[in-house]
Amino acid sequence: MLERLLRFFTRQPPHPGPLTAITMEPIGVVRNRVREPRRGGWGEVTSRIVLRPDIADALLGLSDYSHIMVLFWLHAVPAEVRGSKHRLHPMDDPQNPLQGVLATRSQIRFNPIGFTVVPLLKVANNVLHVRGLDAIDGTPVLDIKPYIPEYDAVPEARVAPWVRGTGREGPR
Ligand SMILES: C[S@@+](CC[C@H](N)C(=O)[O-])C[C@H]1O[C@@H](n2cnc3c(N)ncnc32)[C@H](O)[C@@H]1O
Repeated sequence: MLERLLRFFTRQPPHPGPLTAITMEPIGVVRNRVREPRRGGWGEVTSRIVLRPDIADALLGLSDYSHIMVLFWLHAVPAEVRGSKHRLHPMDDPQNPLQGVLATRSQIRFNPIGFTVVPLLKVANNVLHVRGLDAIDGTPVLDIKPYIPEYDAVPEARVAPWVRGTGREGPR
């Protein structure tokens, strides 16, 4: 009995075991007029997502969608900054409560993956024209998916109180 109690109280948190590195090849790159990271002001920025020409056929059907989800690699986050903060004040604003980085949309993450839903303006061969993508010129693109409200929208979703009032650019 005592042994069981001891085991219970000295229990280690579960560990995922060894995690192997993953290598990915970008499928394309973002092209726009924004050369440096900046906070906000992305709403009207138009970008071209230039995909590898050899995968242009993989876009069949995408133009039927008004919006796409873009996954990208925030490549200008210096390697030593990645994962350097487990907790931070979102948007570097001390008024925002301290949050675990995984509870934010900060670019200072363990794997600096960006994920943004944007309107798809046009598909022309291997090039997607989008608006409002918060990625600087030269950002590698990892994946594209159609945005499907039936799967992806959660109208009743709850968010942290601090997010309220920060606007569309807020938690980014
Ligand atoms: C905070 S991230 C959020 C991205 C995406 N909306 C998300 O929630 O995953 C967006 C910010 O990252 C910065 N940024 C954009 N492209 C970048 C890149 N290639 N490398 C580093 N920072 C980048 C810009 O300052 C931009 O405002």
